[in-house]
Amino acid sequence: MKQTSVSDCYEIKLPRLYNPAGSITAINNLQEIPFATKRVYYLYDIPGGESRGGHAHKSLQQLIVAASGSFTISLSDGKDKRVFQLSQPYNGLYVPPGLWRELDHFSSGAICLVLASTTYSEDDYIRDYQTFIDYKSS
Ligand code: TYD
Repeated sequence: MKQTSVSDCYEIKLPRLYNPAGSITAINNLQEIPFATKRVYYLYDIPGGESRGGHAHKSLQQLIVAASGSFTISLSDGKDKRVFQLSQPYNGLYVPPGLWRELDHFSSGAICLVLASTTYSEDDYIRDYQTFIDYKSS
């Protein structure tokens, strides 16, 4: 999806079942989020000062959640940029395809939970920024 812009990302307030003994947030396929989930992965044990991402996807849709702690996601469509701070496990960020992303400022013990619309495919990645810019303008 070459034509997407950063205005196509949005935060999704996920349901929170509050319980004094511990809260629950559930994400059901196509109910709380606009795609069917084919993969779940999570980043953890992230050393202080580390950054992740540094790539774009051609077709992958994602919902990114700070399941624990906090971090920053910077998104670019080659023209405009948006920066989101995620810090609540009931707040997800919908990321459409075609956006360059960088994740950084991870708090200690942060867990970045990602629901993904496809299984892993290296062919879906654009890992070079100039290739991304060329892709967006082609
Ligand atoms: P990558 O998506 O580049 O990580 P990040 O954006 O968090 O910095 O993936 C890092 C490595 O992990 C890469 O070699 C591919 C592998 N990987 C999988 O095998 N399966 C997956 O689902 C993901 C997300 C990554």
